[in-house]
Amino acid sequence: MIEIQDLHFHRMEGQQQRSIIQGLHLSLGPGEQLALLGDSGAGKTTLLHIMAGMLPAQRGKVVVNHTVLQHCNKSELAQYRRAIGLIFQDYQLLEALNVGDNVLFQWRLQAPAISKAAMKIALQAMAEKLGIAHRLKAYPHQLSGGEQQRVAIARALIHTPKVVFADEPTGNLDQQRSLEVMALLTDLCRQQNINLVMVTHSRQLAQYFPLIKQMKHGQLQCVN
Ligand SMILES: Nc1ncnc2c1ncn2[C@@H]1O[C@H](COP(=O)(O)OP(=O)(O)OP(=O)(O)O)[C@@H](O)[C@H]1O
Ligand SMILES: [Mg+2]
Repeated sequence: MIEIQDLHFHRMEGQQQRSIIQGLHLSLGPGEQLALLGDSGAGKTTLLHIMAGMLPAQRGKVVVNHTVLQHCNKSELAQYRRAIGLIFQDYQLLEALNVGDNVLFQWRLQAPAISKAAMKIALQAMAEKLGIAHRLKAYPHQLSGGEQQRVAIARALIHTPKVVFADEPTGNLDQQRSLEVMALLTDLCRQQNINLVMVTHSRQLAQYFPLIKQMKHGQLQCVN
């Protein structure tokens, strides 16, 4: 569940205040999926970063699964960030760790009480769904772009978050791979009733989402 009311965000450029988000509203029920379109510089990544608790809202209210982000202190925000799923365009895999350890890294931090055996079973199941089970021992630099992308998706979903934010997750893939990866991501989120907000420049990819909004003049406009 995501609820945003009258969100504002500006950046300072020298002495000038430049508005990026101005009076934005968004309401997503549990498990709803949203594709976010918008010109370069429209503020899509800024909005994702605010929803992910990485940037503070300057005015307005952001609530994700009953967590009111403005009311969180530093450690609560850190906990919140570990509980959600994040996928960025540059996958940010850890080069020193193999695929399996990359997928489990965050989850181990977030849930130290879960046994190694249980994590291994979950890892195997997730890797099979994403077609990377045979690559668990490989290192990021040994993977293709599409494989790296699927590792990033596995990492974002392995701890069954309630919400996933994806910033152009297929930006570096060809059209066919983009469609495949996006179908996997939306299917997995649907199966687990996960809210998915995905930024994309591709109207074609956005068509696969039940809800499409475009960011313009600091607000969200309905597209479909
Ligand atoms: N760290 C920063 N410092 C100053 N300005 C920034 C910073 N990050 C983004 N901006 C500016 O804020 C505006 C919104 O940027 P944002 O990254 O949210 O856009 P976007 O919609 O994600 O664009 P793109 O489609 O190119 O990724 C842009 O004008 C950008 O130049
Ligand atoms: Mg961006």
